[in-house]
Amino acid sequence: MAWEYLNDSRWNIRYKIISSYLKDKIKDKVILDINCGIPTLYNYLEGFSVYYANDIIPIEMVGDKLIFQNIKDEEVDIKSDVLMLLGLGGGEFLTDDPLESRTERQSLYRLSKYNPDYIIVETIQLYEERCKVMTIIKSDLKNYIIDYEIMYIVHPINDFYHKRMITMFKKK
Ligand SMILES: C[S@@+](CC[C@H](N)C(=O)[O-])C[C@H]1O[C@@H](n2cnc3c(N)ncnc32)[C@H](O)[C@@H]1O
Repeated sequence: MAWEYLNDSRWNIRYKIISSYLKDKIKDKVILDINCGIPTLYNYLEGFSVYYANDIIPIEMVGDKLIFQNIKDEEVDIKSDVLMLLGLGGGEFLTDDPLESRTERQSLYRLSKYNPDYIIVETIQLYEERCKVMTIIKSDLKNYIIDYEIMYIVHPINDFYHKRMITMFKKK
């Protein structure tokens, strides 16, 4: 699978950042991870009620509280407390890769209408520098404030995609 590199243990930093932020916020809450790839984050979170995830590529991972839907983001219709989109931006803004969604941003906005308490978006720093992918989302999510944002690096830096950023949006 094209995104297997995201499951390399060096990427644990990403899951640690997100799980640390969510630690005291997700008791009995519903989490939705759209276009999840391999939803490794599931193993880092505790106390939530259910973790929904979707992708066009099936997953092998299983878990008591993990509900995976093998569908496109356009078809996802789940009301969540925490909405997540990790790895944003390539398909719509930069690449012609058929395995990168062109509709994920619009799906994020549609699912944000269910008023999740938190929306977590992650992308590649270069995508923000070149195409303002995160800036666009910040401007469009009118009912949310930026609660926390971090630039991070997956060491060693061998390529542009090792320099990343995560923004945590909180409902106003
Ligand atoms: C850049 S990867 C990100 C994976 C994961 N969110 C992460 O950051 O580890 C993009 C993912 O979107 C999935 N995908 C692409 N187009 C999609 C679509 N239209 N609907 C649902 N998933 C899609 C791919 O299969 C892939 O797993």
